[in-house]
Amino acid sequence: MKAVVCTRYGPPEVLRVEELATPVPRENEVRIRIRATAVTSSDCYVRGLDLSPAYRMMARLALGWNAPRQPVLGMVLSGEVDSVGPDATSFEVGDRVFGFDQHRFGTYAQYVCWPEDGLLALRPANLTDEESAAIPYGGLLALHFLRKAGVRAGQRVLIYGASGAVGTSAVQLVRHFGAEVTGVCSTANVDLVASLGATTVIDYTREDFTDRAERFDLILDAVGKKKSAAALRRCRQVLAPGGACVSVDDGTPKLRREDLVLLGELATKGEIRPVIDRTYALDDIVEAHRYVDSGHKRGNVVVAMT
Ligand SMILES: NC(=O)c1ccc[n+]([C@@H]2O[C@H](COP(=O)([O-])OP(=O)(O)OC[C@H]3O[C@@H](n4cnc5c(N)ncnc54)[C@H](OP(=O)(O)O)[C@@H]3O)[C@@H](O)[C@H]2O)c1
Repeated sequence: MKAVVCTRYGPPEVLRVEELATPVPRENEVRIRIRATAVTSSDCYVRGLDLSPAYRMMARLALGWNAPRQPVLGMVLSGEVDSVGPDATSFEVGDRVFGFDQHRFGTYAQYVCWPEDGLLALRPANLTDEESAAIPYGGLLALHFLRKAGVRAGQRVLIYGASGAVGTSAVQLVRHFGAEVTGVCSTANVDLVASLGATTVIDYTREDFTDRAERFDLILDAVGKKKSAAALRRCRQVLAPGGACVSVDDGTPKLRREDLVLLGELATKGEIRPVIDRTYALDDIVEAHRYVDSGHKRGNVVVAMT
């Protein structure tokens, strides 16, 4: 099968398209023929390990010293089950699935074997594979952090970084929970964020949201602390009494299969829609990584397998 191998940690050019043996599912695994994957900010983090020396050392111990132990990166997939292990009973050959695995990787390839009880579910029938691949990453992370912050109906919620993968999902999910959303993004993304359901959109290139008179019950930083640290220090100024401010960088999220199923149901009902910025071919993975490295994608970058 065709796959992308990460030869060492470094810039996008360390990624190389190679021919690898097609994997065979073990007892409780299913093999998925991948039709689409996504290039996420986490993939770029693993590829680049652009961290302080102490964190870089810890990451190398966890992921592999000179290069990732699992050389095929990629955490998101949409595709169809094409083979099942002898003990796997949850899926059948032909099932159209989507999923996310932040530990196993392997989705920059035509096939991958995943355990049947992983973060894998039937994908929304009304979406394409490319659209389905744009849902799990931002959707699962946004759900985790919104729940952690205690989101509920009637709240005033501010999403800082409302135009990225996590941000576009968060805006739509906050609406689903019955709360009112204010989104913060740059000029080019104001219309997009409004179209996702934000009642107010603040352009951070023109205005600092912490200067506003409004007060928010919940603030979710969906940018990441490398860039949001200064804004987060000031965000107390606009928190309502008892309000909470949470960042997507606050700890390792616990992602749940039932949330993937929920995201599929919401997408089927049209309550959330996938936001795709660009779609690349697997052969153009280096370019896709260069673009995601910019830190300014709109929603998701998808790779379509042809
Ligand atoms: N805790 C965890 O385990 C975990 C896991 C995955 C991700 N994360 C964090 O989640 C973050 C977001 O991931 P993502 O995939 O949603 O990223 P993304 O798609 O690249 O989106 C980031 C958004 O941040 C905005 N942005 C960039 N620079 C900014 C600045 N200086 N000020 C304000 N906004 C800025 C951009 O909007 P504009 O283009 O409009 O500026 C962009 O849409 C990651 O960076 C990472 O820190 C954490």
